[in-house]
Amino acid sequence: MLRSRIAGVGMYLPENVVTNNDLLKYMETSDEWIQERTGIKERRYAHRTKETTTTMAVEAAKVAIGRAGITPQDIDFIIFATLSPDYYFPGCGVLLQRAMKMKQIGALDVRNQCSGFVYALSVGDQFIRSGTYKNILVVGSEKHSLGLDFSTRGRNVTVIFGDGAGAVVLQPTNSSDGSSQEQGILSCHLHSDGNSAEILAQYNPGSHANHWTEEKVADFDDAEIGEMFLSHAMIDNAQLFPNMDGPAVFKIAVEKFPEVILEALAANDLQTSDLKLVIPHQANLRISQFVQKKLRLRDDQVYNNIQRVGNTTAASIPIALCEAWERDIIKEGDLICLAAFGSGFTWASALLRW
Ligand SMILES: CC(C)(COP(=O)(O)OP(=O)(O)OC[C@H]1O[C@@H](n2cnc3c(N)ncnc32)[C@H](O)[C@@H]1OP(=O)(O)O)[C@@H](O)C(=O)NCCC(=O)NCCS
Repeated sequence: MLRSRIAGVGMYLPENVVTNNDLLKYMETSDEWIQERTGIKERRYAHRTKETTTTMAVEAAKVAIGRAGITPQDIDFIIFATLSPDYYFPGCGVLLQRAMKMKQIGALDVRNQCSGFVYALSVGDQFIRSGTYKNILVVGSEKHSLGLDFSTRGRNVTVIFGDGAGAVVLQPTNSSDGSSQEQGILSCHLHSDGNSAEILAQYNPGSHANHWTEEKVADFDDAEIGEMFLSHAMIDNAQLFPNMDGPAVFKIAVEKFPEVILEALAANDLQTSDLKLVIPHQANLRISQFVQKKLRLRDDQVYNNIQRVGNTTAASIPIALCEAWERDIIKEGDLICLAAFGSGFTWASALLRW
């Protein structure tokens, strides 16, 4: 039975550290408020002009590919998760393929925000299990700093997010009986509920035409045809920034994270006590602590780095995974659960034996 395993993991964080106090230059907030509500002390911002979502992904991918003992030319499929792509289209996958001089392989972009990496991993897992590909690059990368609202108006969202990239290489492992004691991804579990789509969303630019919301979320120029992508009014009325109902996100997140972790364990006949490490999407330290308490996990069973990195959306799980591996916290044979929740809402988990 073919199963996929993570053969190499890499990450990239931009050099520029932005502390909570640094944000005081732009908005009314405080280090105390941010730390108390989110756990975040600092985050990284990419260089404004020299770094992009794709260039950061390339750096993370180089490390992951090197650690897998292969070269970029050996990669036979790219899956790229991001909500902050270099271009509206084409996606970042092809930009990475070009930048890394890869063969003319398939490149797929995934738009599942905070659960983007786990969704991407699940797609890669299926391609490996089916025997289609042997070396798949799965990346999550974000340059949030490109378009956050740095005025006081946007502070509830802006203080949370940071930039960075993480990547893994998936390869087949030949398991003999498919038991949960063998190495590799044991199972992935994906969910969505579009009823909450507008709770955490950036509406514009988009084709929605104010169709889904009672209130207008975009002001368009008067025109007989077209002119709906971007208007001066959209800029003047701050309609090009992300929107979030923080308390509503919190409430559902603390329900769905434990649910999807338990679902993964149950599917493999395993218990929380079998887990070496849960790597939750780094949404908010308070959310992770709530989940830990609910599942009665020890401190050493949950990995958190949001204090130093912020919420890096699709990049957060591979960055945390890479850090945990580099710090020797993850060893061969360990049971790891990756779990994510975010905009959509979408939520997902992947259970793997390292
Ligand atoms: C965003 C979040 C930290 C806000 O905390 P909260 O306690 O729920 O705060 P609220 O949004 O109710 O706002 C409380 C007050 O703090 C203020 N506030 C919001 N952001 C602030 C900031 N950065 N600094 C200072 N004050 C801030 C609000 O304006 C509000 O003031 P008011 O009471 O005078 O109106 C919290 O809701 C949260 O973490 N939610 C989950 C978000 C998340 O994880 N998102 C990522 C999902 S992948």
